[in-house]
Amino acid sequence: MSNIEQTLSIIKPDAVERNLQDQIRSEFKNNNFEIIKEKKIHISKEEAEKFYKVHETKPFYNDLCEYLSSGPIVVMMLKKDNAVLENRKLMGSTNPKDADEGTLRKKYGISIDKNSVHGSDSVENAKVELDFFFKD
Ligand code: CMP
Repeated sequence: MSNIEQTLSIIKPDAVERNLQDQIRSEFKNNNFEIIKEKKIHISKEEAEKFYKVHETKPFYNDLCEYLSSGPIVVMMLKKDNAVLENRKLMGSTNPKDADEGTLRKKYGISIDKNSVHGSDSVENAKVELDFFFKD
């Protein structure tokens, strides 16, 4: 039975800075994700704080928000069967050092902060995160 879902992907500042967005877009397409919407934006620190609110009690919250707002990002609405889990598998572990060979964070990530991509971690969060960037 099919279980078509949508999920949010963010190509983070470190990857956009290195001009990796075309390569990462191809990775999604090669893995049968449909890119429904996409835009390149530069968000403020306040917007980053709202986006990462679930992490507000974490010690890395401030740096994380500084970082996400430090340069342009590309946000994408992706669609696929089991898109949330499939994107998490394609991204690999949060820390590129722990990520499996072939995953996006292994291939492109620099550090746990500069890990090149973000992806929603659940179907519920995907809805909230997609609304955050794509609600018109
Ligand atoms: P992301 O999937 O965007 O979600 C939150 C981000 O916080 C995560 O990727 C990492 O880039 C960043 N981060 C920094 N330090 C940590 C940490 N110790 N544990 C988890 N995430 C971290």
